[in-house]
Amino acid sequence: MQENQYKILLRELVENKNKYVLRTYGCQMNEHDSEQVEFILNDSGLERVEDIKDANIVIMNTCAIRGTAENKAFGFLGNLKNLKSKNKDLKIVVSGCLPKIDDAFENLIKKHRHVDVLMGTANYNNLPELLYKSYFTKDTIVDISDQYDLDSAQLNYSRMYNHKSFVNITYGCNNYCSYCVVPYTRGRERSREAFEIIEEIQKLANDGVKEITLLGQNVNSYGKTLDEKKSFASLIKSINDIEGIERIRFMTSHPKDISNELIDSYGYLDKLSKHLHLPVQSGSDKVLKEMNRKYTSDDYKKIIDKVKSIDENIALTTDIIVGFPGETEEDFQATIDLVKYVEYDSIFIFLYSPREGTPAAVMDEQISNEVKMDRFNRLTEVVNEIALNKNKKYLDREVFVLVDEVSKNNDKIFSGRTDTFKLVNFEGDSSLIGQLVKVKINKVGTFSLDGTIV
Ligand code: 5AD
Ligand code: SF4
Repeated sequence: MQENQYKILLRELVENKNKYVLRTYGCQMNEHDSEQVEFILNDSGLERVEDIKDANIVIMNTCAIRGTAENKAFGFLGNLKNLKSKNKDLKIVVSGCLPKIDDAFENLIKKHRHVDVLMGTANYNNLPELLYKSYFTKDTIVDISDQYDLDSAQLNYSRMYNHKSFVNITYGCNNYCSYCVVPYTRGRERSREAFEIIEEIQKLANDGVKEITLLGQNVNSYGKTLDEKKSFASLIKSINDIEGIERIRFMTSHPKDISNELIDSYGYLDKLSKHLHLPVQSGSDKVLKEMNRKYTSDDYKKIIDKVKSIDENIALTTDIIVGFPGETEEDFQATIDLVKYVEYDSIFIFLYSPREGTPAAVMDEQISNEVKMDRFNRLTEVVNEIALNKNKKYLDREVFVLVDEVSKNNDKIFSGRTDTFKLVNFEGDSSLIGQLVKVKINKVGTFSLDGTIV
């Protein structure tokens, strides 16, 4: 049966018990997957609600990157068990990365029998069918296959914002960093055809979208799996020509695949945002080798030097893992030295979390939580000082801000981002949402800037 026939069947079956809650954990990839899930379910006649008390169906789109993400998901599942004991009709779907991890899958299937559907990251198109079938059995319906449906790349999706959108360009990852589960949860790397991506962005632009974020685990290796090769930089160049699009961002990159062509693009592609998120993970060559990252800290510094030589105002951000197995105080100092050298605008710091099935999880010399926390705190202090100093350069400057939303605590305060991804707060009104406005910065902090519209 065709997938859209299941949408019709599901619509008829659930009738007025059609309210669903959708909880998303993890990265932008997951957020965007959830936008697809929302579209598919709405298209099947279901209605999204926020309060779980109103819901007949709960969908958890899970993350497995660190133990904390896994614990969060299992914690919420525990609460749902109580809810389901009071409401036997409640349907529970667990999707995303967690069911793709063997131990977590065992745990879900054996100890969480209140889960009705378990699905991976491959085929959200199948969700109406899986959900429909779950109404006719007490068993858990499972689809965690690796049969990735590339057509799902062309799926429609709901959007959280009218003026900006994510766009998938690659799926999966081939890098096998020794700490990371992604190659196991999202499969081998594959790229979407450039013409499909351009078509999708053209439609978004026609719809009023001004900013797009190109998504992939390693966008720099875009095009390698295509018959007709196209580089990431040339893809951006084509997108730069699309009328209506004003800003192009991308997430996330691997230093080993950064090309000179991409770095040079910052000099002449006017829509390419002046921000590079380039995860370094560690500043120690020994740790980088153990992580299977395939570059040295010197290689990384050379990339940064080139970027700065194109434009010293390009904002630089990164991911760093502290407490990787065998990381000595000396290794950690090398990370601090690198951070000081680059002068990042901000850093996501993670405590190393052993993940089942990855080589690092069984390495000797696992580091205690106490040492990890200590390194986390010390690195945070270094980063915050650098970030504040970098932000001070914005004082009295006028910047263009794409306005995102109203503040949660004050309906007169709005926020948005600069080209360099700085969060800016200012007084305004709701007509400004989705507009590019000029703001003069009059106060700077470590994490955001305040200003006045000029
Ligand atoms: N433990 C801690 N952090 C991790 N990351 C990936 N796997 C792990 C892990 N096992 C971090 C990396 C990556 C970011 C998305 O998550 O820094 O860049
Ligand atoms: Fe994980 Fe490394 Fe792939 Fe990033 S590049 S998703 S850290 S394996």
